[in-house]
Amino acid sequence: MWILGVNRSHDAAICLMKDNDVVLSIQEERLTHVKYDREVFNALDKVAEITKEIDLCAYTHLYNTKCDFGPYFKYIKRIGIKVKRYVEAKDYHHSLHASCAFYNSGFDKAGILVIDGAGADHEWGKEHESIFYFDQDPNGVTCLSQKIIGYSNQKVEGAPPFVNPTKSIGTGFVYSGITEYLGWDSLECGKTMGLSSYGEPNDRIKQMISEDGGNENIFTLTDFNEHKNVNTVVRPYDYIAYSKDEDDKFQRHADLAYRLQEDFEEYVYQRIMDTHRLSGCNDIIFTGGCALNCVGNYRILQRLPKHINLYVEPMSSDCGTAMGAAYITYARECPKQYRRKKIRPLSHLYFGQPIKYDYELKDNEFRVCEVTPQSIAGLISDGNVVAICQGRSENGPRALGNRSILYDPRAVDGKDIVNKVKKREYWRPFAGTVLADHAQEWFDMDRLYESPHMMYAVNVLKSMIEKIPCITHVDGTCRIQTLTKDQNPNYYKLIEAFYELTGVPILFNTSFNLAGDTIVETIDDALLTMRESEICYLYLPEKAELLFIPDASEPSIKRLSYKDCNLLL
Ligand SMILES: [Fe+2]
Repeated sequence: MWILGVNRSHDAAICLMKDNDVVLSIQEERLTHVKYDREVFNALDKVAEITKEIDLCAYTHLYNTKCDFGPYFKYIKRIGIKVKRYVEAKDYHHSLHASCAFYNSGFDKAGILVIDGAGADHEWGKEHESIFYFDQDPNGVTCLSQKIIGYSNQKVEGAPPFVNPTKSIGTGFVYSGITEYLGWDSLECGKTMGLSSYGEPNDRIKQMISEDGGNENIFTLTDFNEHKNVNTVVRPYDYIAYSKDEDDKFQRHADLAYRLQEDFEEYVYQRIMDTHRLSGCNDIIFTGGCALNCVGNYRILQRLPKHINLYVEPMSSDCGTAMGAAYITYARECPKQYRRKKIRPLSHLYFGQPIKYDYELKDNEFRVCEVTPQSIAGLISDGNVVAICQGRSENGPRALGNRSILYDPRAVDGKDIVNKVKKREYWRPFAGTVLADHAQEWFDMDRLYESPHMMYAVNVLKSMIEKIPCITHVDGTCRIQTLTKDQNPNYYKLIEAFYELTGVPILFNTSFNLAGDTIVETIDDALLTMRESEICYLYLPEKAELLFIPDASEPSIKRLSYKDCNLLL
């Protein structure tokens, strides 16, 4: 039984299942390199490479009323895929976020909180925050509360009791509104989150988010018309006046982000407690774009009563709704199979394409040598930036060792060096991957047994901060990936070798892309990124090879220093 989930919104994606197993899940942007791409033609091509027979194709889109799937049906036919039955995912956007997270969590029943910028249109308005009760009966999913935007605070006639209309904009819109106000794309909320750590309490900044949502004196909804377009405008907010003093401007922006982050965390904490109260469940799931706020996730976890178990979905961006559509379709439309073969809880995120080693090297641009994990560990400890490509690409926004750039976490100036290499803002923080068995020796893992998908920025233990300065953010935290051997054997061996060499069981890990680009997918993408940057080394652990640029000469990036490397090319 082949089931295909297709999502069209920003972060458009497909998810292909064979019975209860995910065979492929990939975002279109990885294939087109158009960030947040809303089409799925290239992803469908990848499906055709695996199977030409689809039993059930569930399709979903964010803007239910405006999205035409006709061209996709035609395209699917044109590339030779036969679909036995199309199923329009009647569940709205938020319930598909919830479906993805519920089956991934492994809980038998759970209360689920979904917060994103905005979800689907339905007859009562536009979703912006939902609370569900979910259990293993796929037809028993219950919406317990839903805030919808665009109306006054009056009840909408005919709407079910769980619908709560509001004029205030939601938390996700507030966050993206301030992100735009700071000069970035509204979807780049991670930058605002990173900046917030540099901020301080400032009495001049008004509360942005209260119990009702966005402060109406600051945020205005515009353009809410019969087509249900919604835009957010941050009203002229005199706090950030033009300043020629860049330091002063930076601090003003950071203070604004700090207040936003504080308000955001308090709001989400209260909604998680609402989810617990309304669902009667101690197992609580948080998903939707706002769940990617790893700083907030950790702080909220610390505050929650001990009897609440929190699961934060790693595919919380809209790419996860393709998986949610495939999951719920499998569970509902194949009830006998579903009872026999339950969807397994998420154990990894490597659902993308495998690397094909079909690259061609021309004109001595790159050379190749045989390497071992030990030699690569040495290369990194010598102060080199080393990219790694292997296996299948990660689904969702995090790089977890299959499409990553690695560096030595001990380097004092490492953050500046890698930010320069990636062409990012100098203040952006970096993540780290730690061998799971050593995580507690370096990080405050209170209430967090593992963090395999980088969903939490945890406190670095005070005694360890000076040992890993370039992955410790200004507030003393680090977004971490805990790693076991089973999760990624090659990456584990490399960090183990680095540990033997340096006594530090951690590698600096950032996604393999340059600022503004999507994460590399293929070897060709990787080589192109190397040509456009100062990254000179590419480690291919599955082949035990290193590709490198022979005349690397940047001062911060040394020549290959390994005497025992056996040059192949
Ligand atoms: Fe969403």
